[in-house]
Amino acid sequence: MRYPVTLIAGDGIGPEVSAVMVRVVDEVTDGRIQWRNAPAGGGAVAAGMVPLPEETLDSIRETRIAIKGPLETPIGKGWRSVNVSLRQALSLYACVRPVVSLPGDYRSKYSDIDLIVIRENTEGLYSGREHEVIDGVVEALKVVTRESSRRIMRFAFEYARNHGRKHLTIVHKASVMPLSDGLFLDCAQEIAADYPYLQVEVLPLDNLAMALVQRPQDFDMLVMGNLDGDLVSDLCAGLVGGLGMVPGANIGAGHAVFEAVHGTAPDIAGQDKANPIALILSAVLMLRHIGETGAADRLGSAVRTLLFEGKSVTRDLGGTTGTSGVGDALIEILSRSES
Ligand code: NAI
Repeated sequence: MRYPVTLIAGDGIGPEVSAVMVRVVDEVTDGRIQWRNAPAGGGAVAAGMVPLPEETLDSIRETRIAIKGPLETPIGKGWRSVNVSLRQALSLYACVRPVVSLPGDYRSKYSDIDLIVIRENTEGLYSGREHEVIDGVVEALKVVTRESSRRIMRFAFEYARNHGRKHLTIVHKASVMPLSDGLFLDCAQEIAADYPYLQVEVLPLDNLAMALVQRPQDFDMLVMGNLDGDLVSDLCAGLVGGLGMVPGANIGAGHAVFEAVHGTAPDIAGQDKANPIALILSAVLMLRHIGETGAADRLGSAVRTLLFEGKSVTRDLGGTTGTSGVGDALIEILSRSES
């Protein structure tokens, strides 16, 4: 069985971390993944294309599965976020980010975190509906629909049921936005009625912010809107060692695009300093998604061994190994389990 997968290498550190990810995935799958390179972001623009070329969308529509490095969004001018456009174009409505303490003492204050952040990926303040009302006055619309709120809640509750999760925290700010976040909460309560065996609590975003710093171990699954989920994912990454450690998946009805939480890290791009683990763990999620469970287990376990041994980690984790060196170390660890 061979699996075609669209690969968007990404901007900044994207090509570096993608190269390592492809190398280790090829190793654990014996080359069963057929990579189809597709352009997007700053790289596409530099080559005279639009930031999200139709050929890239067509490739994902065909392969159904993609994995991507981060893509640059220029601030204020240039082009609108390709990530947001991609999620909207393919209706990748659910963003899943597992935040798990990994072995080793990597600047994390906690060693026992195991939570899932589920973020609605297509609406909220990231709907892209922004306009200048008059000179000096700009409006950004927060869009919340019953259909999308019910859809993300159904996804979250099904995810909990299928993955043995017991406790969902629905995050909101309905005291200030009673209509939009109120609708989100109503949908949560409606869907929750179908899952009486799951515990559900609702928590305002500001309360969550404090609780996550004080007692993150208490949380099992967090479900929230688009902007809130973006911020909380980075906060959670900080709880388990940083942005180089947290993977993600954007899931829709027909397609799934896997990517790390981090961005293009322009401050370290092209210097062989980026931590490739977040993208490699995103590939582990991808392998599980397509049913390559054995390969996913082997790669996930090699990452844990690498972190436990602590000899070959990048600077963000206190080491001196380069991005490509992490790839070498993982290949060496994988070769041990073969012999
Ligand atoms: P960033 O995540 O790129 O960087 C924040 C900090 O974390 C930097 O100090 C960076 O060096 C560090 N960092 C990030 N990933 C790392 C890794 N794998 N290994 C070691 N250190 C790492 O966030 P920033 O600077 O806000 O965004 C830069 C660009 O990335 C922007 O154009 C932004 O729009 C884009 N971006 C793209 C995302 C995506 O494609 N999914 C997600 C977030 C940002």
